[in-house]
Amino acid sequence: MQSVRIADVAKCEGQKVTLQGWLYNKRSSKKLHFLQVRDGSAIIQAIASVSDVGEELFAKLGELTQETSLRVQGTVVKDERSPLGFELHLNDMHVVSESPDYPITKKAHGDAFLMDHRHLWLRSKRQHVILRIRHTIIKAIRDYLDENDFVLVDSPIFTPNACEGTSTLFDTDYFGQKAYLTQSGQLYQEAAALAFGKSYCFGPTFRAEKSKTRRHLTEFWMVEPEVAYMELEGLLNFIEDTLCVIVERVLNKHESELENVLERDLTFLRKVQKPFIRLSYDDAVTQIKALQNECDDPEVKELLDIEWGMDFGGRHETELTKCYDRPILVHGFPTAIKAFYMKRDPNRPEVSCSVDCLAPEGYGEIVGGGQREDRLDVVEASIAEHDLPQDAFEWFLDLRRYGSVPHAGFGLGVERTVAWICGLHHVRETIPFARTMDRLGP
Ligand code: 4AD
Ligand code: MG
Repeated sequence: MQSVRIADVAKCEGQKVTLQGWLYNKRSSKKLHFLQVRDGSAIIQAIASVSDVGEELFAKLGELTQETSLRVQGTVVKDERSPLGFELHLNDMHVVSESPDYPITKKAHGDAFLMDHRHLWLRSKRQHVILRIRHTIIKAIRDYLDENDFVLVDSPIFTPNACEGTSTLFDTDYFGQKAYLTQSGQLYQEAAALAFGKSYCFGPTFRAEKSKTRRHLTEFWMVEPEVAYMELEGLLNFIEDTLCVIVERVLNKHESELENVLERDLTFLRKVQKPFIRLSYDDAVTQIKALQNECDDPEVKELLDIEWGMDFGGRHETELTKCYDRPILVHGFPTAIKAFYMKRDPNRPEVSCSVDCLAPEGYGEIVGGGQREDRLDVVEASIAEHDLPQDAFEWFLDLRRYGSVPHAGFGLGVERTVAWICGLHHVRETIPFARTMDRLGP
C-alpha cells in the first residue's frame, strides 16, 4: 500500500492508507488509544479500539513513547471537529525506531533547555509554524523581487573590506591573509546594480555583536536589493511596497496558524498598508524628547535620553513605534553615525540620505538602507575619515570613476521580520539554529 502525506489525506477519504511519521502525543482510555501522528506535513489523530486491532496490538500501542517513528495503517474518516478535518481509524502499526525518554515533554521547559535541544524542538507545533512562516516570508521577498525584474547576484561571504563598521567583524585566516565574514552584501550589490540596473542578494551575514539583546544574532539572513538611478524618495516607496507584499502574502497563507497557534493579534498586521509614517530623524528626536518628558518610569526615562547626533537605542525605537499603528520610515540620520557609503544631503552634509524602517508594536528596526554616496571625492574622504584601508576599496571607488549614477538600496533582516510578524519577543526562535554571543550549538 502506498503511503500518503498527512496533509494530503483529504484526497483519500474512505480509503485505507499508510502514513509514515512519528508519535507526537498520545492519550488512552481502557478501550481506545488516541495517537497524534505527525509526519512533518501535518498532524492527524489515529484512533485505535481494542475491538478493531485486537488485544496484542492494542497493548503495543499503549506502550508507544513520544517521537517513536512508526508506520500506521488505517481508514481516512471525515471529522469536522479535528483541525485537519480528518482522522484515521487505525488497524495496523509498525514501529520503525524507538524513542525512549524523549527529552522535551509536555511540562514547561526553560528557554536555555529548549535552545540546547533545538534539533528536537524543531519538531514541535509552534516551531513548525514559525519556521514555515519564515519560509513564506523568504519566498514572498524572492518572488516579489523576481516579479519586478531584479537579478539575483550573490555577494561573496569572504571579503577583504568592512561594510558596516570595524567593531563587529569576524576575521578568518585566508591563506595567511586576513579575510572577514561579510556583514552585508551591499557593496557588491552596488557593482551589480550598476551592471544590471536592479539586483539583489539574499544570504547569511555575520556580525560579532557583543550585545545580548532580543534583536541581535551573530549570524543572520538579509535580503539586499539595490537599484541604479534610485534616490531616497524612490527608496522609501520601494521599502513600503516590499513590506506590504510580505505581510499580505503571509496573512493570505497563515492567518489561522498565526491566530490559533501563535496567538498573534492581527490588528496591526492588517494595517500594514501604504502610506507608512514618514518621520525625519530631526522630528523623531523631538518626539522622543517629548516622550521622555511625559515618562513616569525613571528607568525608561533614562533610556530615552537623546540629543541630536545620537543613534537610536532599542528603547528609543520601541517607544517611538508605540505612537503609531503602522511601520515608520525614519530618514535623514546624522552622517556621523552612519556607514561610510551613505550619501550626504548636498544641502546639509551633516545629514545622510539614510532610512531605517521601524516595525510597529515595539519591534523597531527591521530595514536599514539609503542612497549611496556617488561622488568619488566624497567617498574617498569618507573612507579616510572612517579609518578604512583605501586599497581594499579601490574596486568600490571604480564604481564612482566609471559612469557613477545615483543609486540606493536597503537590507531587510529576515529574523527581525519573522519576530515581528509572528509576534515573538526574541529572535532566537526565528532562525532554525540561532547563533548568538553565548550560543554556538547545537
Ligand atoms: O542596518 P544594517 O546594518 O544595514 C546594512 O547592513 C546595509 N548595508 C543594508 C543595505 O543597505 N543593503 O542591517 C540591515 C538589517 C537591520 O535593519 C536588521 O533588520 C538586520 O539587518 N540586522 C540584524 N538582525 C539580527 N541580528 C543582528 N545582529 C543584525 N544586524 C542587523
Ligand atoms: Mg541599521
